[in-house]
Amino acid sequence: MKDTVLKAEGIAKIYGTKKQMLFKALEDVHLQIGEGEFVGIMGPSGSGKTTLLNILATLDKPTSGRVQMNGVDPNAFSNKELALFRRRELGFVFQDFNLLDTLSIKENIILPLVLDNMPIKEIEARLKDSADILNIGEILDKRTYEVSGGQKQRTAIARAMIHKPSILFADELTGSLDSKAAKDVMESLEHLNVQRGSTIMMVTHDPFAASYCKRIIFIRDGKLFSEIRRGANRQAFFQQILDSLSVLGGNYDEVSPARY
Ligand SMILES: Nc1ncnc2c1ncn2[C@@H]1O[C@H](COP(=O)(O)OP(=O)(O)OP(=O)(O)O)[C@@H](O)[C@H]1O
Ligand SMILES: [Mg+2]
Repeated sequence: MKDTVLKAEGIAKIYGTKKQMLFKALEDVHLQIGEGEFVGIMGPSGSGKTTLLNILATLDKPTSGRVQMNGVDPNAFSNKELALFRRRELGFVFQDFNLLDTLSIKENIILPLVLDNMPIKEIEARLKDSADILNIGEILDKRTYEVSGGQKQRTAIARAMIHKPSILFADELTGSLDSKAAKDVMESLEHLNVQRGSTIMMVTHDPFAASYCKRIIFIRDGKLFSEIRRGANRQAFFQQILDSLSVLGGNYDEVSPARY
């Protein structure tokens, strides 16, 4: 059994203040993610996916329940400790890349290490390693406005992984990409997971993107609904995901099977 990286017990999240209506976005969520896992979270719009990811990623606090990361509870940290913990242990990728337009691709990627005063030799070695695995070695000297959306997102992944975090969190990372770019990004993420053993948790609407995960957790109305694991064949897993989504309900009309 691999080590547990992340453990959530009885997570609930209630939004709203006393003056507003209270809204229960998550209820009694238990889950565990082991080292080297690649987990997808799926569910209808408003089912609580982003809320769950933000709580697991320490960007938000649960109303009740406990999160443990590598055996420690990040919610027990002071703000300063938490900021350091995030910077050292966690990686984040979001839908809208969040790259700095005044910097080159290379400068964007290495920025966290430069800020951490890492020796330049080590930085260069890590940059090469990340650029190779994410297939962006050719564009390192370009500016962000000179590269495609898929290349921008692979740059954002490289930046999120360059400090070797314990886990990478991604929320709808293919959300603003066309299907070719989404495929490139998901293949890169799969390389990271398989070749480097990176632990990844991502939220997605897109069954195609999800088919690259090894395990999918489905949520509905803030509760865990079901879970499936991938066998050897990604196409078969894609079909299994579509079947699970049709049981789950919600709106998945935009899926075009022709792509796969
Ligand atoms: N800050 C907030 N205050 C009040 N309600 C919120 C807040 N954030 C989210 N909600 C509500 O909680 C529920 C879950 O939201 P969440 O963003 O987690 O859903 P989601 O599954 O990520 O949806 P989507 O697929 O549309 O991104 C929704 O009903 C949403 O309106
Ligand atoms: Mg969301």
